[in-house]
Amino acid sequence: MKKIIIFLGPPGSGKGTQAKKIAKKFDFGHISTGDLLRHLANDPHADPTDKQKLIEMKSGKLVSDDLIYKLAFREIEKYLSAGKGVVLDGAIRSVAQAKKYQEFFISKNLTDEVAVEIALSDEEAFNRLTKRRVCAGCGEIIPYLPSTRSLTSCPKCGGELKVRKDDEPAVIKQRIVDQGNAALAPILKYYENLGMLKKVDGAAPIDEVEEKITHALK
Ligand code: AP5
Repeated sequence: MKKIIIFLGPPGSGKGTQAKKIAKKFDFGHISTGDLLRHLANDPHADPTDKQKLIEMKSGKLVSDDLIYKLAFREIEKYLSAGKGVVLDGAIRSVAQAKKYQEFFISKNLTDEVAVEIALSDEEAFNRLTKRRVCAGCGEIIPYLPSTRSLTSCPKCGGELKVRKDDEPAVIKQRIVDQGNAALAPILKYYENLGMLKKVDGAAPIDEVEEKITHALK
């Protein structure tokens, strides 16, 4: 099993859903840069200069690279020093970031990465995000499925279900412009050229996507 698993895909493709499952299955750390940024936004003790950089997130644009490296590399080191692998969820959104992470892994003597594309059309991604709910308590991501759409509380912890602030249609559109399939293409090419890229169909049911990812990781 590779020590670093990098999930790539447009917003709403299922990176968070699958990253949680795969991290649990293999006892890896799950690092979502989106979650790290939302945590920073809610941290009253956080560095105000870092907090100012979150302004881009509100409109669906990418936040500055230096903040991403600061937050993500610290988390990666934490898990690696505890002897664990990591699943990176949305942590890489440009070729410049991909290169910087590669430099970081090389500096840690790691040559053990795999990138997994969860492929989904921008249209389907938009549909999913307009209907997504998230548990305010445990962070469980609730899909819009016949079995879950009438839920009024979290099936795991009973917590309140909320709509994420950036899941407002105008912001979703901006996220898809900046981070959708067109923006993803050069990043996928980068990993393909390194011989690290696997692709799974993200339009399949959740359990099937998980199975395909597990198979691709073997
Ligand atoms: P982030 O929180 O990472 O948002 P995102 O990339 O837009 O991804 P999402 O969390 O919206 O979607 P997902 O792919 O995880 O899908 P999910 O599993 O929830 O980032 C937020 C912001 O932070 C960015 O916009 C940016 O501003 C900033 N940021 C983060 N990282 C950055 C970086 N590296 N550089 C710069 N800025 C950065 O699934 C979506 C929905 O579909 C859910 O309801 C789910 O239940 C459902 N679903 C999942 N799989 C299936 C399936 N197979 N069938 C049916 N429904 C499904």
